[in-house]
Formats: sequence, C-alpha cells, structure tokens
Amino acid sequence: KAIIFLGPPGAGKGTHAKEVSQILNIPHISTGDIFREHVKNQTELGIKVKSYLDSGSLVPDELVWEVVKDRISKEDCKNGFILDGFPRTIPQAEMLEKYLKEKNAVIKVIYLDASDELVIKRLSARRVCKNCGAIYNLISMPPKKDGICDICGGELYQRSDDKPEVIKQRLETYYKETQPLIDYYRNKGIMYTISAEKEREEVLNEILKVISE
Ligand code: AP5
Ligand code: ZN
Repeated sequence: KAIIFLGPPGAGKGTHAKEVSQILNIPHISTGDIFREHVKNQTELGIKVKSYLDSGSLVPDELVWEVVKDRISKEDCKNGFILDGFPRTIPQAEMLEKYLKEKNAVIKVIYLDASDELVIKRLSARRVCKNCGAIYNLISMPPKKDGICDICGGELYQRSDDKPEVIKQRLETYYKETQPLIDYYRNKGIMYTISAEKEREEVLNEILKVISE
C-alpha cells in the first residue's frame, strides 16, 4: 500500500509522515528531504535541483520520478511506504499510478488541509535538526534547549526556503501545480481530507484512523 501525504507547504506532511512511518514501521519517503540531502552533498543531482529548491519552484517531473521510482522499488518498500511531497503534479501522479498498477499496489491519499495564513506562520517558526531531521516549531513545538535537538543533541537550523519571499513562491507553485491533484484524487474516491489546523495529536489520530479503515 502507498500512502500519499498531500497538502500545502507547512501543513505538517513531514511531521506526521515521520510519526506514521514509525508507528506502522514502513519507510517515509520525502522527495524534499532527498533533494536537500543531494544539494548538501553537492552531488550531480544536487547541483541540478538546487535552483528549483532555492526559488520555490518544482523540480522537473522526469527528474523527480527517476528518484522516486528508484526508491520505491527497494526491498524495504514491499510492505508499504509513505510518500511525502510526491506527487505534486498530475503527470507525477500518472507515472506513479502506472507503476503501482503493475505491482498491484493500492493508493490512499491523506490530504492535510490548512489556510495560507496558518502555514505561513508555521513555516516561519520551523526549525529542523541538521543531524537527524527532526522537525520543531518555535511556537507550537519548541526544543527543550534553544537551538538544540531534543532527540540527538544536533544543531537546529532554518531551511533556506523558509524565508518569506520563498514561502510566498512555494504557495503560488502549490496552487498552480499541485492543487489540481485534490480533484484528481477526490474523483478517484481514494482521498481523505483532514484539517491540519488542529493540535498535532489530534491530527495524528485522525490520520491513523483513516489509514486503518
Ligand atoms: P518539500 O520539502 O516537500 O517542502 P513542502 O512541500 O513545501 O513541505 P514542507 O516540508 O515545507 O512542509 P510540511 O507539510 O512537511 O510541514 P512540516 O511537517 O515541516 O519540498 C521542498 C522543495 O523540493 C520544493 O519546493 C521543490 O522545489 C522540491 N520538490 C520536492 N518534491 C517535489 C516534487 N514531487 N516535484 C517537484 N519538486 C519537488 O510542518 C511545518 C511546521 O509546522 C513545523 O514547524 C511543525 O513543527 C509545525 N506543525 C506541524 N503540524 C502542526 C500542528 N498540527 N500544530 C502546530 N504546529 C504544527
Ligand atoms: Zn536531531
């Protein structure tokens, strides 16, 4: 089974995908995390995608699909996996669907809905652990010690695309390229809408309920 987390930047896809991945013991695959890792290590792919991430626009579909196909064909995805931040365009969704059909795998889409106002607020206060990738929020989920990860003691940083200008562009990109997926999946009857504006615990419980149905 493939579980897709869909929703605007800052809705909480990464936060909840990490939790669900641990609870269900299936891999969490974030295309954003994969790209950021490549950018950090200055790999060939990292050099290609850096400008897209920096500007808040989308990496070309073919390039994204190559990465995702590679990852989901790995042994550890046999019992299911979570896709966070993929698909983000109709062509990406079609490529995924074609691939999964051949494997007889089913898709469930969790759409995390949140207002622009709220996601802008959340993204501006987000901090991420350099070492383990844990996600914090200065307002809703502050670390116990300033600037330091509770889990591993690593240093917290602010993502370079969490600057106000880039957040604005990411939202624009979302409405233009990704929002059409909402109708696309709704029409297929495989999408579950959850308000991401509630408390983390509550959002998580709703997600788990939907997944177990
Ligand atoms: P990506 O990394 O996927 O970024 P995104 O979609 O913009 O999503 P975010 O990671 O910003 O937000 P999130 O929903 O995961 O929120 P989070 O859980 O952190 O993509 C980055 C870039 O890579 C793209 O711009 C693009 O260039 C490229 N890319 C990636 N995938 C691609 C694809 N498929 N095609 C083309 N290009 C692609 O939460 C946000 C904050 O809110 C945190 O601080 C968290 O603590 C807090 N929070 C979460 N939930 C709650 C809650 N319920 N209550 C209070 N606070 C909460
Ligand atoms: Zn950490």
